[in-house]
Amino acid sequence: MAELNFLDRYPSYRDTTRLDELRATEYSHLDHVYLDYTGAGVYAQAQLRAHHERLGSRTFGNPHSENPASVASTELVDSARRAVLRFLNADPAEYAVIFTPNASGACRLVGEAYPFGRGRDLVMTFDNHNSVNGIREFARRAGSRRRYVPLVPPDLRVASAAVDAALKPRKGLFAFPAQSNFTGVQHPLSWVEKAHDNGYDVLLDVAAYLPANPLDLSRVKPDFVPISWYKVLGYPTGVGCLVARRDALAKLRRPWFAGGTIAAVSVGAEWHQLAPDETAFEDGTLNFLHIPDVEFGLSWLTAIGPELIRERVRTLTGWLLDRLVVLRHANGNPMCHIYGPTGLDHRGGTVAFNLLDPDGRIVDERLVATEAATQGLSLRTGCFCNPGAGEGAFDIGRRQLRGSARWGVRTIDDYLTMIGLPSGGAVRVSFGVASTFGDVQRLLDFLEGTYRDRGADAAGLAPRLRC
Ligand SMILES: Cc1ncc(COP(=O)(O)O)c(C=O)c1O
Repeated sequence: MAELNFLDRYPSYRDTTRLDELRATEYSHLDHVYLDYTGAGVYAQAQLRAHHERLGSRTFGNPHSENPASVASTELVDSARRAVLRFLNADPAEYAVIFTPNASGACRLVGEAYPFGRGRDLVMTFDNHNSVNGIREFARRAGSRRRYVPLVPPDLRVASAAVDAALKPRKGLFAFPAQSNFTGVQHPLSWVEKAHDNGYDVLLDVAAYLPANPLDLSRVKPDFVPISWYKVLGYPTGVGCLVARRDALAKLRRPWFAGGTIAAVSVGAEWHQLAPDETAFEDGTLNFLHIPDVEFGLSWLTAIGPELIRERVRTLTGWLLDRLVVLRHANGNPMCHIYGPTGLDHRGGTVAFNLLDPDGRIVDERLVATEAATQGLSLRTGCFCNPGAGEGAFDIGRRQLRGSARWGVRTIDDYLTMIGLPSGGAVRVSFGVASTFGDVQRLLDFLEGTYRDRGADAAGLAPRLRC
């Protein structure tokens, strides 16, 4: 019955049944209800086979050399660079691909080398992952002014007028996520050009966006694009990218050099010359046995069809939102408070919420995490490394936040008590390539069966020690 209602409301789900076939074959190792695609994607068996076949077929050596094993690795790494550019429809003359361990590594490369200083500001949306927020520490040390653009409740979007105001015509770096890893909000990509017009370079964090949405770098031209491939492809871990405009890379000043990054170096004269290309940013030996897996993963995803994945994620997200909004206790009070938009307009497949008890009190997210796990559901709980979205969600004022910084807190529980927050975080559900209607139904059955008409009792839960 529920499925018929769902199909009635989202008929295009029927066009994505190919994904059910793949779930039963290529993704059959998904042995429970996995709902954390914003945390990490899932890999297909084909990706594992391709890895084993490649490694079993010949010898691969350290890329920094001229021997056959080394050349074999270099060729595959370069081929993967080209594949990344093709996937993003980026012109190789305009964009470079720098391999990093993950998106955080890409953010750090930018932060530590960006020419911050007086006259160059850092502007960020409140909605940012900590790996982008952390760039502010480089900016602070260099004496740059930092400005955060606030979120507007209840949808937790950013008002375009506020972006205009923050991007005063000065130089600097503007950093924002294409999709929030907290609320799923998709911020306008048109901000990239707006920022350029105002003299800013742009870091567009696509870590949460790219797994189910296309990015076309021939149309939208951010300067720095951090990516974690395990989020897009499920496998490999340990490989990310900084995709960067070549002219923006030329502005960066690396604070050090390392093996692999230099064209020439002298110890006696304490002199070095960085490599003239993207390898200047690739410290040490690349993950040469896994980088080629990115190329295979991208061809796998392309063959499935990013649009198909997008449509499936869209329909499942719509249905989940529809149902969460109407879940009620017997006394008529809502069971759920959603953070961010409750409709599908300009949002991706990440939904954050808290469960409420019949008196409207928040059910502790640690309880939900434990009970979901015992029922075979992988949900994400906590603050998702996005404190700005959390502060927006709970509407915490600046004065409260400054107090906590002034008095100092040691654990996240201390911090919550100090600023009077009702909860340390939320529950997050996110969808991807192998998600099905059955997964959503299992989640909804669990939520209704476990929390309907039940009081919020947090007794006996382990303390929160970190965000
Ligand atoms: C939006 C966003 N940016 C950056 C990151 C950092 O990714 P990683 O931990 O792989 O470096 C994440 C991870 O969750 C994310 O969701």
